[in-house]
Amino acid sequence: MATAELRKGDVKDLALADAGKRKIEWAEQQMPVLRQIRKRFAKEQPLKGLRISACLHVTSETANLMITLRDAGADAVLCASNPLSTQDEVAASLNRDFNIPTYAIKGEDNDTYYSHLQAALDHRPQFTMDDGCDLVTMLLTKRTDLVPNVIAGTEETTTGVIRLRAMAKDGTLKYPVIAVNDAMTKHFFDNRYGTGQSTLDGVIRATNFLLAGSKVVIAGYGWCGRGCAMRAKGLGADVIVTEIDPVKGIEAVMDGFRVLPMAEAAKEGDVFITVTGNKSVIRREHFEAMKSGAIVCNSGHFNVEIEIPALEQMAANKREVRPLVDEYVLRDGRKIYLLGEGRLVNLATAERHPAAVMDMSFANQALSAEYLRQHHKELKPQVYVVPEHLDREIAKLKLESMGHKLDVLTPEQEKYLASWNEGT
Ligand SMILES: NC(=O)c1ccc[n+]([C@@H]2O[C@H](COP(=O)([O-])OP(=O)(O)OC[C@H]3O[C@@H](n4cnc5c(N)ncnc54)[C@H](O)[C@@H]3O)[C@@H](O)[C@H]2O)c1
Repeated sequence: MATAELRKGDVKDLALADAGKRKIEWAEQQMPVLRQIRKRFAKEQPLKGLRISACLHVTSETANLMITLRDAGADAVLCASNPLSTQDEVAASLNRDFNIPTYAIKGEDNDTYYSHLQAALDHRPQFTMDDGCDLVTMLLTKRTDLVPNVIAGTEETTTGVIRLRAMAKDGTLKYPVIAVNDAMTKHFFDNRYGTGQSTLDGVIRATNFLLAGSKVVIAGYGWCGRGCAMRAKGLGADVIVTEIDPVKGIEAVMDGFRVLPMAEAAKEGDVFITVTGNKSVIRREHFEAMKSGAIVCNSGHFNVEIEIPALEQMAANKREVRPLVDEYVLRDGRKIYLLGEGRLVNLATAERHPAAVMDMSFANQALSAEYLRQHHKELKPQVYVVPEHLDREIAKLKLESMGHKLDVLTPEQEKYLASWNEGT
C-alpha cells in the first residue's frame, strides 16, 4: 500500500458510501446530546487546527463523533481499534462524503491493522483519541519522534485505562490523558446498557439461539457483566456468574444469580460470555468439561479471554458453519462453537452499542477534547477523570432530550444538606 494512498484513507470500497451515509444519518437522529455539542462547536471552533488521530471502532456513531470534531475545526483522521468492528460502508462515507481520512477494513489481518495505526500516526497528531490503547502504545514505543507534538489524549474503554494507568505509574506515559470510560455518563450506561443489549444481540444474530430456558454463563460481574446478565435474564435464561471479587460475587447473588467457579459452570452452560478484561478466563480444562453444542464468545476488549489456541489444539476439525460462527469438533466428537473469533461479539456479529448510548460516551469524548485543549498545560502526564461538571452537564442534556425533568433543591433544602448541625 503506497503512503500517498494511505493518506487519503484505506477502505474496502468507496462505492459503499451511500449506504454508509444513510447509516450515519440514522445514528445522528438518536444522538441529540452530541448534536447540540456539534452545533456549539461549529460556532465556537474550540478545536481549530488541532491534528487529531483517533483509533476507535469505525461505526456510524463514531462517524458522528468524527464529524463533530471536524466541525469544531479539528484536522482529524480515524483508524480502527479492532479488526472486526469496522462498518465498511461507514468508513467509505467518512472518506468520500465527510473528507475524514479513515483507515479501516472489516476483517483486516494483523499487518493491515497495524499499518492503519501507522497511517493514523503519520498524521503527526497533537491529540490522540484511543479505544484500548493500541494507538498510544505504538506512539510511545515505536513512534517516539512524534511524542513531543502531542498535548493530550482521551481513552474510551476499561482495558485501555488499565494499560494507561500502568504506563503512568512507570513513567512511560508522556502526556495527560482523560479516561472517558470512568465518566459516570459513560460506564454506568455504555458498559452496562450498551454492552448488555448489544452482546446478547450479537449472540442472537450470529446463532439465532433461543435463550429462554437455556443456561448462560457470564464471566465477570463488572459494569458490562451486570448488563449482560440482566439482559440474558430478561430473555428467560438461567444465568450463572463467575467472579474473582467477593463483593461483585455477593452482588450477583443478591441480584438473583448463581455464582460458580468456571470449572463448575463449564459443565452446565449452553452459552458462555466473557467480559472480564482478563486473560484465559475460559481455558482447556473448561472446554474439556463443556457440553456438546456449547456456544462461547467474548465481549471484553481483547480476544485473550478465551484461550483459542487450546481450542485449536483440541479440535480434530474446524469449519465456519454460519458467518463468524466457527464449529470446533473435538476428538471425542463434542462440538464447540466460537463466535466472532473470540473478539468483541457485540461488534463482530452485531452493531455494538445503540446510538442513544454512544451519544453520552461520545459527548464525553468531545467535551474532554475541548477541555484538554484549554487546560493541558496545567496537567501532568497522568490519567485524569472527566471533570464532574462535564459529566453532570451531559446527564442533564440527555435527560432533557428524553423529555424528563429533574426537581430542584429549595433554598431550605440546600442549607439542610450543606450543614452538619441541621436535622437535630
Ligand atoms: N463489548 C463492549 O462493547 C465493551 C464496552 C465497554 C467495555 N468493554 C470491555 O469489557 C471488559 C470489562 O469491562 P467492565 O467495564 O465491565 O470492567 P469491570 O472492571 O467493571 O469488570 C470486570 C469484572 O471482571 C472480574 N474478573 C476479572 N478476572 C476474572 C476472572 N478470571 N473470572 C471472573 N471474573 C473476573 C472483575 O473482578 C470485575 O468484576 C473490558 O475489557 C472493557 O474494556 C467492552
